[in-house]
Amino acid sequence: MKYLNKSSSNESLISHQKEQPILENHIFIRGRRFLNIEGSNYPFPDDTIEINRLKLEYCISKYAWQENIFYSPLENELANGGLQVLDVGCGCGCFLLDLAQEYKKATFIGVDIANMISKEKRPSNVGFIQCNVLEGLPFPDNTFDFVFQSNMIAAFTERQWPLIIDEIVRVTKPGGWIELEEKYYPFEECGPTTLELRTEVFEFTRSKGLNLAMAPNIHKFLESHDKLSKNICTGVTNMDLGRNTLGELAFKSFKEMHFAMRIPFLERFSDIEFEEYFNIIHQECEINQTNIKMFKYFVQKNIE
Ligand SMILES: C[S@@+](CC[C@H](N)C(=O)[O-])C[C@H]1O[C@@H](n2cnc3c(N)ncnc32)[C@H](O)[C@@H]1O
Repeated sequence: MKYLNKSSSNESLISHQKEQPILENHIFIRGRRFLNIEGSNYPFPDDTIEINRLKLEYCISKYAWQENIFYSPLENELANGGLQVLDVGCGCGCFLLDLAQEYKKATFIGVDIANMISKEKRPSNVGFIQCNVLEGLPFPDNTFDFVFQSNMIAAFTERQWPLIIDEIVRVTKPGGWIELEEKYYPFEECGPTTLELRTEVFEFTRSKGLNLAMAPNIHKFLESHDKLSKNICTGVTNMDLGRNTLGELAFKSFKEMHFAMRIPFLERFSDIEFEEYFNIIHQECEINQTNIKMFKYFVQKNIE
């Protein structure tokens, strides 16, 4: 792959994925459809239930960020037209589709290992490429004015993160903007059952090289990148779990996320036991005012 040639063999993003028709790259577990691609640790399905969960998450995030879909200072340029925007791991495409409707003169491209944006719903200024970004982004250097990426901590191992950031920087034009948004899962205040769940989920994901507490570390990767401005803008907001209307929706998504995740600790529960377990967690979240933090970073690529 021509885009990634900088890493040593064990740190390489190249997954040696075999060429196969995409439908053969799936497995079904407990009625849910998962991608089954060598080199990807991604533990979530790509079926309709998951698409609906991602849509819900998008609405919750948008609300939590006070309706600001992005913070990079590009509104005027986007409105004037001509900008190229990339969403890495675009999922169901809510971000792209939202922006494409508002900024009709700009071009929006999504890349994702799963194909979750229906072709019929794609306006003419939205494109989509199905690819494994661990094999590199399929674009030449300096292509995009704005590269956005959100909610990818379960997609990349901790070692892969700096390499993904390198790729994002590579495809961003000098003077272009990069915006990364991630949730931080180790709740600071939580009850004993919630803590048990957190410990089990963290243990499992850590065994896969994933770090669900990555969000604050992203700053350090951006800061140490020689092609990025040292002025890294950071934002933090909270998503309550189980309190008020938004918190109820956030808890619904949180619960569905665990139901979807392939984790042995949760898979041993029957459906009834799962419901009971999450009823306890719901109560605990209300009592302890448990919330999930969301981090956002936006930074400009240096003009060479
Ligand atoms: C939690 S979803 C986030 C989707 C979207 N960015 C959002 O914020 O709603 C993570 C996305 O990463 C995609 N993904 C996981 N591994 C990937 C890979 N190696 N290459 C490209 N996309 C990947 C999944 O298919 C999924 O759409």
